[in-house]
Amino acid sequence: MAMTTKAVRGLHFLPLEERFIPAILLIEKESNGAPWSERSFRNEINHPYGVFYVALIGDEVVGYAGEWLVVDEAHVTTVAVAPHHRRKGIGHALTVELLKTAKERDMACSTLEVRAGNEPAIELYKALGYVETARRKAYYPDNQEDALVMWLHDLQAWSPPQQP
Ligand SMILES: CC(C)(COP(=O)(O)OP(=O)(O)OC[C@H]1O[C@@H](n2cnc3c(N)ncnc32)[C@H](O)[C@@H]1OP(=O)(O)O)[C@@H](O)C(=O)NCCC(=O)NCCS
Repeated sequence: MAMTTKAVRGLHFLPLEERFIPAILLIEKESNGAPWSERSFRNEINHPYGVFYVALIGDEVVGYAGEWLVVDEAHVTTVAVAPHHRRKGIGHALTVELLKTAKERDMACSTLEVRAGNEPAIELYKALGYVETARRKAYYPDNQEDALVMWLHDLQAWSPPQQP
């Protein structure tokens, strides 16, 4: 069943399907210094402990986000929005959907890694309640950038903030 948000007219989310993968790969190339492979995305379809949402406006794929629900932790694995659709609230709305799903499935907390220089993403996650808890030195092999480890400690007490 499609979920909707008021952030952008016509914006809705669907679980990942094979037919979305070509559009996702184009966005991924423009969004990630170490892009996921086609196979990596395909593995997220019907993943046993994965949740993966695709954001669409009409038929256009405008973003996507995924997480793995491991024991009681929701690990956010990816969030990306097509460059020409950024700063409209879509990344926020996608991450909120991940967290709402994780909360419904009784996850206690959520964590993620983000490049230390990725200010847009760090700001997005902070606004949702994540805090920086550690730094992994030279974590990303493509440019040796550090990773910040961020946690949202109490997901069961979390509720979605207003759309930006
Ligand atoms: C990070 C990303 C997903 C954000 O998506 P988005 O749809 O543009 O974000 P939103 O419009 O929902 O913004 C939500 C909040 O995030 C922060 N934010 C987003 N873009 C920002 C920017 N360029 N600079 C500073 N803060 C920013 C702001 O706090 C913003 O709220 P505001 O607009 O009220 O100030 C997007 O920039 C992206 O796809 N980047 C490339 C992929 C990536 O780095 N993913 C994260 C991997 S960990």
